[in-house]
Amino acid sequence: MTLDLKALENQGWCVAEQVYSDEFCSQVVTHLNELLAQAEFHSAAVGKKLDKTVDKSIRKSEICWIDHWQAIDELSLLKRDLEHIMDEVKNYFLLSLKRFESQFAVYPIGGYYKKHLDQLRKSPHRQLSHILYLNDCNEGGELVLYDRNNKLKIAQVIRPKKGQCVAFLSAQIYHEVLPVKDKRLSITTWFRDDEICPLV
Ligand code: OGA
Ligand code: NI
Repeated sequence: MTLDLKALENQGWCVAEQVYSDEFCSQVVTHLNELLAQAEFHSAAVGKKLDKTVDKSIRKSEICWIDHWQAIDELSLLKRDLEHIMDEVKNYFLLSLKRFESQFAVYPIGGYYKKHLDQLRKSPHRQLSHILYLNDCNEGGELVLYDRNNKLKIAQVIRPKKGQCVAFLSAQIYHEVLPVKDKRLSITTWFRDDEICPLV
């Protein structure tokens, strides 16, 4: 699997349809829902990981970080694909990407994520954001991408589809998740240019 690097360069984002099969996505969802059942889940914290104030006015969703990629074949494969993407993007943009972090995100009905940038001013290490959608959202839950040169101008509205991937430059593209009407499942990955931890 590869990204449309030209589109990523020219507009700051790219979309790839039907990258993963329904069966693949269902297996991943089953596995990640088990993690959820094991209470390895917590409310998504915006800002510092250790900051206990979860700002619900910005984001309403649940997340869990993916640590055990070898747990099922599908996650192993996804990890390989993400490593491949990291290599391609590194070479094309001459970015010094070092690693990636991924989280499973569940937006309940009524969930949302207000307009934001993924690259944080205090921690400017996220370079590329990549989202794999694990189910279809027929209404609500659209990802709105804003123009890289005008953050007030909507550039594209993407209705999540099972197996679809979207990637965008974390430092440039403002985006938001509109209020969710069907439960919304995804894996977000950030490719980073730093070596060590803090998961923010
Ligand atoms: C994020 C994000 C968008 C989406 O996790 O930072 O903006 O479509 N996700 O899930
Ligand atoms: Ni984001």
